[in-house]
Amino acid sequence: MKLTLEIWRQEGPNAKGRYEHHTVAELDGSMSILEMLDRLNEQLVNSGKEPVTFESDCREGICGACGIQVAGIPHGLERNTPACHQRLRSFHDGQTIRIEPFRSASYPVVRDLMVNRHALDEMLEAGGHVAVNAGTAPDADALPIDHETVEDALDYAACIGCGACVAACPNGSAHLYLGAKLTHLAMLPMPSQERTQRARAMIDVAEENFGPCSNYGECAEVCPADIPLSAVAAVNKERLRATFKRRLDK
Ligand code: SF4
Ligand code: FES
Repeated sequence: MKLTLEIWRQEGPNAKGRYEHHTVAELDGSMSILEMLDRLNEQLVNSGKEPVTFESDCREGICGACGIQVAGIPHGLERNTPACHQRLRSFHDGQTIRIEPFRSASYPVVRDLMVNRHALDEMLEAGGHVAVNAGTAPDADALPIDHETVEDALDYAACIGCGACVAACPNGSAHLYLGAKLTHLAMLPMPSQERTQRARAMIDVAEENFGPCSNYGECAEVCPADIPLSAVAAVNKERLRATFKRRLDK
Protein backbone atom coordinates (compact mmCIF):
# COMPACT_ATOMS: atom_id res chain seq x y z
CA MET A 1 0.00 0.00 0.00
CA LYS A 2 1.27 3.47 -0.89
CA LEU A 3 0.01 6.69 0.75
CA THR A 4 0.76 10.34 0.13
CA LEU A 5 1.01 12.41 3.28
CA GLU A 6 0.12 16.07 3.23
CA ILE A 7 1.89 16.87 6.45
CA TRP A 8 2.19 20.06 8.50
CA ARG A 9 5.71 21.39 8.98
CA GLN A 10 6.47 24.30 11.28
CA GLU A 11 9.96 25.01 12.60
CA GLY A 12 8.82 26.63 15.85
CA PRO A 13 5.97 28.36 17.68
CA ASN A 14 6.44 31.65 15.84
CA ALA A 15 7.46 30.25 12.44
CA LYS A 16 5.08 30.21 9.49
CA GLY A 17 3.79 26.67 8.88
CA ARG A 18 3.24 24.92 5.54
CA TYR A 19 2.14 21.54 4.17
CA GLU A 20 4.73 19.21 2.66
CA HIS A 21 3.89 16.23 0.48
CA HIS A 22 5.67 12.90 0.98
CA THR A 23 4.92 9.46 -0.40
CA VAL A 24 5.42 6.42 1.83
CA ALA A 25 5.36 3.00 0.15
CA GLU A 26 5.26 -0.64 1.32
CA LEU A 27 2.76 0.05 4.07
CA ASP A 28 0.16 -2.45 5.20
CA GLY A 29 -3.26 -2.02 6.77
CA SER A 30 -2.22 -3.41 10.16
CA MET A 31 0.35 -0.64 10.69
CA SER A 32 -0.55 2.28 12.94
CA ILE A 33 -0.47 5.93 11.91
CA LEU A 34 2.55 6.39 14.19
CA GLU A 35 4.42 3.49 12.56
CA MET A 36 3.78 5.19 9.23
CA LEU A 37 5.27 8.42 10.63
CA ASP A 38 8.29 6.41 11.86
CA ARG A 39 8.68 5.07 8.32
CA LEU A 40 8.42 8.59 6.88
CA ASN A 41 11.06 9.83 9.32
CA GLU A 42 13.43 7.03 8.32
CA GLN A 43 13.01 8.14 4.71
CA LEU A 44 13.62 11.80 5.59
CA VAL A 45 16.71 11.06 7.71
CA ASN A 46 18.15 8.77 5.04
CA SER A 47 17.84 11.56 2.49
CA GLY A 48 19.47 14.12 4.83
CA LYS A 49 16.22 15.96 5.71
CA GLU A 50 14.75 16.93 9.10
CA PRO A 51 12.39 14.29 10.54
CA VAL A 52 8.83 15.27 11.46
CA THR A 53 8.39 16.04 15.18
CA PHE A 54 5.49 14.23 16.83
CA GLU A 55 4.84 12.90 20.33
CA SER A 56 4.31 9.35 21.53
CA ASP A 57 5.20 7.34 24.59
CA CYS A 58 3.28 4.19 25.50
CA ARG A 59 1.78 3.45 22.06
CA GLU A 60 -0.81 1.46 24.02
CA GLY A 61 -3.57 4.04 24.47
CA ILE A 62 -2.54 4.89 28.04
CA CYS A 63 -0.38 8.03 28.15
CA GLY A 64 -2.34 10.45 25.92
CA ALA A 65 0.82 11.83 24.29
CA CYS A 66 0.12 10.88 20.67
CA GLY A 67 -2.61 13.37 19.75
CA ILE A 68 -2.50 14.52 16.12
CA GLN A 69 -5.17 15.41 13.59
CA VAL A 70 -5.61 12.82 10.81
CA ALA A 71 -7.82 13.61 7.81
CA GLY A 72 -9.34 16.50 9.78
CA ILE A 73 -10.31 14.42 12.82
CA PRO A 74 -8.49 14.45 16.18
CA HIS A 75 -6.68 11.07 16.43
CA GLY A 76 -8.15 9.77 13.15
CA LEU A 77 -11.08 8.10 11.39
CA GLU A 78 -11.71 5.27 13.89
CA ARG A 79 -14.02 6.60 16.60
CA ASN A 80 -12.83 6.72 20.21
CA THR A 81 -9.38 5.43 19.32
CA PRO A 82 -6.04 7.14 20.08
CA ALA A 83 -3.68 7.90 17.20
CA CYS A 84 -1.31 5.12 18.30
CA HIS A 85 -4.12 2.57 17.76
CA GLN A 86 -5.45 4.02 14.47
CA ARG A 87 -4.66 1.51 11.70
CA LEU A 88 -3.94 2.25 8.05
CA ARG A 89 -6.71 -0.13 7.01
CA SER A 90 -9.03 2.92 7.21
CA PHE A 91 -7.35 4.18 4.02
CA HIS A 92 -7.00 2.83 0.49
CA ASP A 93 -3.93 2.43 -1.69
CA GLY A 94 -2.89 5.70 -3.33
CA GLN A 95 -4.92 7.91 -1.00
CA THR A 96 -3.66 11.31 0.17
CA ILE A 97 -4.02 11.91 3.91
CA ARG A 98 -3.67 15.24 5.64
CA ILE A 99 -1.76 15.02 8.95
CA GLU A 100 -1.74 18.07 11.19
CA PRO A 101 -1.23 19.06 14.82
CA PHE A 102 -4.33 19.38 17.01
CA ARG A 103 -6.03 22.59 15.88
CA SER A 104 -7.00 24.67 18.91
CA ALA A 105 -6.17 28.20 20.07
CA SER A 106 -5.39 26.65 23.48
CA TYR A 107 -2.66 24.41 22.03
CA PRO A 108 0.15 26.46 20.44
CA VAL A 109 2.30 24.49 18.02
CA VAL A 110 5.74 23.66 19.42
CA ARG A 111 7.07 22.13 16.22
CA ASP A 112 5.49 20.22 13.30
CA LEU A 113 2.80 17.95 14.84
CA MET A 114 3.69 18.63 18.46
CA VAL A 115 1.54 21.07 20.45
CA ASN A 116 1.81 22.51 23.94
CA ARG A 117 -1.07 21.14 26.04
CA HIS A 118 -0.06 22.93 29.23
CA ALA A 119 -3.48 24.64 29.40
CA LEU A 120 -4.88 21.24 30.48
CA ASP A 121 -2.20 20.85 33.14
CA GLU A 122 -3.08 24.27 34.54
CA MET A 123 -6.56 22.94 35.36
CA LEU A 124 -5.05 20.02 37.25
CA GLU A 125 -2.66 22.33 39.07
CA ALA A 126 -5.66 24.44 40.16
CA GLY A 127 -7.51 21.55 41.83
CA GLY A 128 -7.28 18.20 40.07
CA HIS A 129 -5.49 16.57 42.97
CA VAL A 130 -6.11 15.54 46.59
CA ALA A 131 -4.51 17.83 49.18
CA VAL A 132 -6.26 16.60 52.38
CA ASN A 133 -3.97 15.07 54.96
CA ALA A 134 -4.78 11.39 54.58
CA GLY A 135 -2.25 10.23 57.17
CA THR A 136 -0.65 6.85 56.65
CA ALA A 137 -2.23 4.39 54.21
CA PRO A 138 -5.34 2.90 55.90
CA ASP A 139 -6.39 -0.75 55.62
CA ALA A 140 -7.99 -1.37 52.25
CA ASP A 141 -11.40 -2.12 53.82
CA ALA A 142 -11.33 0.69 56.43
CA LEU A 143 -13.38 3.03 54.21
CA PRO A 144 -16.10 0.99 52.49
CA ILE A 145 -17.22 2.33 49.09
CA ASP A 146 -19.97 0.52 47.20
CA HIS A 147 -18.95 -1.31 44.05
CA GLU A 148 -21.13 0.75 41.69
CA THR A 149 -19.58 4.04 42.88
CA VAL A 150 -16.07 2.65 42.45
CA GLU A 151 -16.86 1.46 38.91
CA ASP A 152 -18.40 4.82 37.97
CA ALA A 153 -15.45 6.75 39.43
CA LEU A 154 -13.02 4.55 37.51
CA ASP A 155 -14.92 5.16 34.26
CA TYR A 156 -14.41 8.91 34.65
CA ALA A 157 -10.83 8.47 35.89
CA ALA A 158 -10.02 6.72 32.59
CA CYS A 159 -9.35 10.09 30.88
CA ILE A 160 -5.80 9.90 29.49
CA GLY A 161 -5.41 13.68 29.11
CA CYS A 162 -4.85 13.52 25.34
CA GLY A 163 -6.73 16.78 24.72
CA ALA A 164 -8.60 15.52 21.64
CA CYS A 165 -11.92 16.68 23.10
CA VAL A 166 -10.74 20.30 22.94
CA ALA A 167 -9.45 19.93 19.37
CA ALA A 168 -12.75 18.37 18.25
CA CYS A 169 -14.96 21.05 19.80
CA PRO A 170 -15.95 23.96 17.50
CA ASN A 171 -15.74 26.19 20.60
CA GLY A 172 -12.44 24.75 21.86
CA SER A 173 -14.14 23.76 25.11
CA ALA A 174 -12.47 21.45 27.66
CA HIS A 175 -15.71 20.51 29.45
CA LEU A 176 -15.38 16.76 28.79
CA TYR A 177 -11.89 16.67 30.32
CA LEU A 178 -12.86 18.94 33.21
CA GLY A 179 -16.06 17.00 33.91
CA ALA A 180 -14.17 13.71 33.97
CA LYS A 181 -11.74 15.04 36.58
CA LEU A 182 -14.41 16.75 38.71
CA THR A 183 -16.72 13.72 38.65
CA HIS A 184 -14.33 10.98 39.62
CA LEU A 185 -12.90 13.03 42.48
CA ALA A 186 -16.37 14.08 43.71
CA MET A 187 -17.46 10.45 43.97
CA LEU A 188 -14.82 9.23 46.37
CA PRO A 189 -14.87 10.07 50.12
CA MET A 190 -11.38 11.48 50.64
CA PRO A 191 -11.11 13.76 47.57
CA SER A 192 -14.75 14.84 47.89
CA GLN A 193 -13.79 16.81 51.03
CA GLU A 194 -12.34 19.46 48.68
CA ARG A 195 -15.18 19.26 46.17
CA THR A 196 -16.43 22.86 46.36
CA GLN A 197 -13.04 24.53 46.35
CA ARG A 198 -11.86 22.22 43.55
CA ALA A 199 -14.86 23.04 41.35
CA ARG A 200 -14.39 26.79 41.79
CA ALA A 201 -10.66 26.70 41.05
CA MET A 202 -10.79 24.34 38.07
CA ILE A 203 -13.81 25.97 36.44
CA ASP A 204 -12.16 29.41 36.75
CA VAL A 205 -9.05 28.14 34.93
CA ALA A 206 -11.15 26.37 32.28
CA GLU A 207 -13.04 29.60 31.55
CA GLU A 208 -9.76 31.48 31.22
CA ASN A 209 -7.99 28.96 28.96
CA PHE A 210 -10.77 27.35 26.89
CA GLY A 211 -13.99 28.14 25.08
CA PRO A 212 -17.54 27.63 26.41
CA CYS A 213 -19.56 24.45 25.89
CA SER A 214 -22.60 24.57 23.56
CA ASN A 215 -23.34 20.83 23.80
CA TYR A 216 -22.14 19.95 20.27
CA GLY A 217 -21.02 16.52 21.53
CA GLU A 218 -18.06 16.27 19.14
CA CYS A 219 -15.76 15.74 22.13
CA ALA A 220 -17.29 12.38 23.11
CA GLU A 221 -17.09 11.18 19.48
CA VAL A 222 -13.29 11.30 19.53
CA CYS A 223 -12.51 10.55 23.19
CA PRO A 224 -10.30 7.42 23.33
CA ALA A 225 -11.33 6.81 26.95
CA ASP A 226 -15.06 6.79 26.10
CA ILE A 227 -15.78 9.53 28.65
CA PRO A 228 -19.57 10.05 28.33
CA LEU A 229 -21.27 13.40 27.69
CA SER A 230 -22.64 13.22 31.25
CA ALA A 231 -19.20 14.58 32.24
CA VAL A 232 -20.12 17.83 30.46
CA ALA A 233 -23.37 18.04 32.43
CA ALA A 234 -21.36 17.40 35.60
CA VAL A 235 -19.40 20.62 35.07
CA ASN A 236 -22.62 22.63 35.22
CA LYS A 237 -23.80 20.64 38.25
CA GLU A 238 -20.51 21.25 40.09
CA ARG A 239 -20.62 24.94 39.15
CA LEU A 240 -24.17 25.33 40.55
CA ARG A 241 -23.32 23.35 43.67
CA ALA A 242 -20.24 25.53 44.31
CA THR A 243 -22.28 28.73 43.80
CA PHE A 244 -24.98 27.71 46.28
CA LYS A 245 -22.39 26.48 48.74
CA ARG A 246 -20.73 29.92 48.62
CA ARG A 247 -24.09 31.59 49.39
CA LEU A 248 -24.78 29.18 52.24
CA ASP A 249 -21.27 29.75 53.60
CA LYS A 250 -21.89 33.53 53.90
S1 SF4 B 1 -11.82 13.51 28.05
FE1 SF4 B 1 -11.20 12.00 26.46
S2 SF4 B 1 -10.57 13.25 24.71
FE2 SF4 B 1 -10.59 14.60 26.51
S3 SF4 B 1 -8.51 14.56 27.35
FE3 SF4 B 1 -9.66 12.94 28.42
S4 SF4 B 1 -9.30 11.09 27.20
FE4 SF4 B 1 -8.69 12.79 25.89
S1 FES C 1 1.25 6.97 22.63
FE1 FES C 1 0.35 6.76 24.61
S2 FES C 1 -1.79 6.95 24.19
FE2 FES C 1 -0.89 6.96 22.21
